[in-house]
Amino acid sequence: MNLRSATAADISLLMELERACPTAAHWTERQYRQAVGGGSDSSERLVLVAEVSPPAVSAAERGRDSGYGILGFLVARHLTPEWELENVVVAPAARRGGLGRQLLGALLAAASETDSEAVFLEVRESNTAARKLYERVGFEQTGRRKSYYTSPLEDAILYRRNVGPSGFS
Ligand SMILES: CC(C)(COP(=O)(O)OP(=O)(O)OC[C@H]1O[C@@H](n2cnc3c(N)ncnc32)[C@H](O)[C@@H]1OP(=O)(O)O)[C@@H](O)C(=O)NCCC(=O)NCCS
Repeated sequence: MNLRSATAADISLLMELERACPTAAHWTERQYRQAVGGGSDSSERLVLVAEVSPPAVSAAERGRDSGYGILGFLVARHLTPEWELENVVVAPAARRGGLGRQLLGALLAAASETDSEAVFLEVRESNTAARKLYERVGFEQTGRRKSYYTSPLEDAILYRRNVGPSGFS
């Protein structure tokens, strides 16, 4: 699996993947364009895509979820001295293969390289898969925001992971 920074050419596929995942955070095209370099705050964002190398997968397989080999992505914002994980999405057919963990590992490595103290995030209470993933890579629950999400109304659970000099372990 290859991890690389997203470009503007990836945006339609990222949106397609995100729209197919109801529990993912949903952004407008304009927000994605700003995040990958078209906006004033692009330097504060990390947008990573995970893709299979072209020879490793058939065209039919590439088209199954998001097309063109992109099987997941992550968006995070650098708010010195911390990072906020804003979204992490893995295509349904590629789940439970370690890709979410790999994407979070790359974020923690980036946080370590920028001398950051911690990564924090919030997630719907009912999002078991995401919460298990965060706990698996060392995030700890730090709080709750009552009725934070709408449609449906739900609490947000807050998580945080300190970033040591060695980053992800
Ligand atoms: C959350 C998500 C990114 C996880 O991606 P993934 O590639 O399947 O995660 P991984 O394979 O790296 O899983 C790592 C660990 O997380 C935990 N985990 C992941 N999915 C799980 C699930 N459905 N149930 C229980 N534990 C789960 C496990 O401990 C797993 O390790 P294991 O497979 O060795 O047991 C994926 O389910 C997804 O895209 N969900 C929809 C989008 C979303 O809700 N994103 C978060 C909102 S911001």
